Amino acid sequence: MSSTIGSIIGGRAAGGSPAGTISSPNPSRLTDVVAEVQLADAATFAAACAEAKRAQPSWAGTPAPVRGRAVAAIGRIVEANKEALARLVTRELGKPRAEALGEVQEIVDTCDFFLGEGRRLYGQTVSSEMPDKQLFTFRVPVGAVAVVTAGNFPVAVPSWYLVPALVAGNTVVWKPAEYAAASALALFDLFQAAGLPEGVLNLVFADGAATFAGLERGLREGTIDKIGFTGSTAVGRRIGELAGRHLQVPCLELGGKNPMVITPSADIALAVEGALFSGFGTAGQRCTSLGSIIVHESLHDEFLDRFAAATAAAPVGDPAQDVLYGPMLDQKFATRFEEYLGWIQPHHKVLGSSGLGRISAANQRDGFVGDPEAGLFYHPTIVDGVQSGDALFCQETFGPIVGVTTYTSLDEAIALANTPGYGLSSAVYTNDPHDAFRFRQGISAGMVSVNNSTSGAEAHLPFGGNGLSGNGSRQSGIWVLDQFTRWQAMNWDYSGRLQKAQMDVAEITPDLGYRLPS
Ligand code: UN1
Repeated sequence: MSSTIGSIIGGRAAGGSPAGTISSPNPSRLTDVVAEVQLADAATFAAACAEAKRAQPSWAGTPAPVRGRAVAAIGRIVEANKEALARLVTRELGKPRAEALGEVQEIVDTCDFFLGEGRRLYGQTVSSEMPDKQLFTFRVPVGAVAVVTAGNFPVAVPSWYLVPALVAGNTVVWKPAEYAAASALALFDLFQAAGLPEGVLNLVFADGAATFAGLERGLREGTIDKIGFTGSTAVGRRIGELAGRHLQVPCLELGGKNPMVITPSADIALAVEGALFSGFGTAGQRCTSLGSIIVHESLHDEFLDRFAAATAAAPVGDPAQDVLYGPMLDQKFATRFEEYLGWIQPHHKVLGSSGLGRISAANQRDGFVGDPEAGLFYHPTIVDGVQSGDALFCQETFGPIVGVTTYTSLDEAIALANTPGYGLSSAVYTNDPHDAFRFRQGISAGMVSVNNSTSGAEAHLPFGGNGLSGNGSRQSGIWVLDQFTRWQAMNWDYSGRLQKAQMDVAEITPDLGYRLPS
C-alpha cells in the first residue's frame, strides 16, 4: 500500500506537485511502491525558507530549557515508535532489521545527548582588563537552517542536524532524499508530535536542481543563514561555492574512501570481521564504508583467503531476514555501482562471491536469501591487486566492493591510506601501540578506529572529515554546536566613565632583569 506525500511548510501541506511526482519503491521488492512523492519547485523551497525565517525569532525566544524539553519528548516519541520506524526504513531503503533498529536508536541517543544542552548552552563570564567592567560570551542561534540529507541514513543522520539546530534556537527547512521520502515524513511526524510550533521545522521534497535553485534564492533573499549538507563530494563542492558567495560556511559531510591498514601484529580474525562489516554492511553504502584494505605483505595471503571465505559465506538478500546486507538503496546507486565495476582491470583478481554484478537467476549468489529478481541486489566484490594509481583505489565506490593492496613499511601504508585525498574514517588493526599512534598521527582522516572497523561511529563523538570528505565541520556531540550557534561577545562597563581598552589599563612594574643571587 503506498500513499501520496508532499512538502509541509508552516504545519500545512504545501500543496500540489509543481515539479512532478516520483515514486519511492522498496528496493528489495521493486513492485512495492512505498510512497508517491510530490516534488516541490524552487519557489516552494524558498517559501519554506521564508517561513522558517519568520518562525525563528519566537523559537529563539523560547527558553532553551523548554527547547530541551521538546528534544526530550522527541527522543521518547521516537523510542516508542522504534519498531515502526525501523520497519519503514527496512521497507523503503532495504536496511536489514538490526541495522534499521540501530539507526533509530542513534536518533534516541542524539536526543538523549542534547536534551540536557537546553539547560547548558553555556556562555562564559570573562574578566575585563579594567575595573568595574565585566565581559561575557553568549551562544546565539545562527537563524534559519536549510538541511539537505542523503537517504543511506534516512533518519539518523538528519537527526544529527535537526536536534542540535532546534535545541540551539534555530528553525529548519529539511530536504531529505526523494528515495527516502516516506521515512523522512515519518521522522518529521514524530518531531511534530513533540509539539514544535508551526514553522519551526519544515519539510520539502524536491529534486537536486530545484533544491539548488531554492538554496540560491533563499540565500539571496536572506532567509537561509546556514546550510547543512550530507551527500557526494561533487555536490558538496557546489554547495560550498554557493554558500561562500554569500559569506557562509556550510556544514558539509561528504564522501569517503576509508582505508583499513592491517599491520603484522594484527589479530587477523578480528580484521576479517571488521572488513566484512564495514565493507559490505549496508551494501557498502555508508559514507564510513570500507574502501581499501592496505595489508602488510606478510599477512596478505592468509588475510585474503579468510576474508574471501567469510564474504562468500555471508548471507545476502532479503533485509527482512537475517542477512549481512540487502539491496542497493535505489536504482541510481545500482546504476552507478555498475559503472564502478567497470573500473576492474586485468591486473585485478576478483573474489568473494559466485558472480559479479547484479544477482539474478542467471547470475546467482550461492546461499542468497530470498528472490534476487525482486530487488536491486549485488554480489559482494573483493578486488585484490589494486594499485595506488587505479580508479578503484582513488575514487569512492558507494556499494559492496572492497579493494586490497599490500604495503611493506608503516610509513608507506599511511601514505597509501592518505593518497585518495578523502579523510573521513579510517581503521588500523594492530597490537602494537607504536603502530596505532603512528597511524593516528599520520592519517588525514577525521575519525580513526583501532581494532575496530571504519563504520559505526558513536553518536557523541565528533563526526566529520577533511579533504574531499568535507570542509572540517563536525557533527555530533558538543562539537556540532559550533555549527548551529555563533559566539556573541558582550562587555558591560559599570564604572560610569569611558575606560578605553588597551589604553586605560593599570600597569604593574616588573623588574625583568631580576636574577637570583648566584
Ligand atoms: C553516513 O554514512 O552518512 O558511523 C553516516 C557510521 C554511522 C553513520 C554513518 N553511525 O557508520
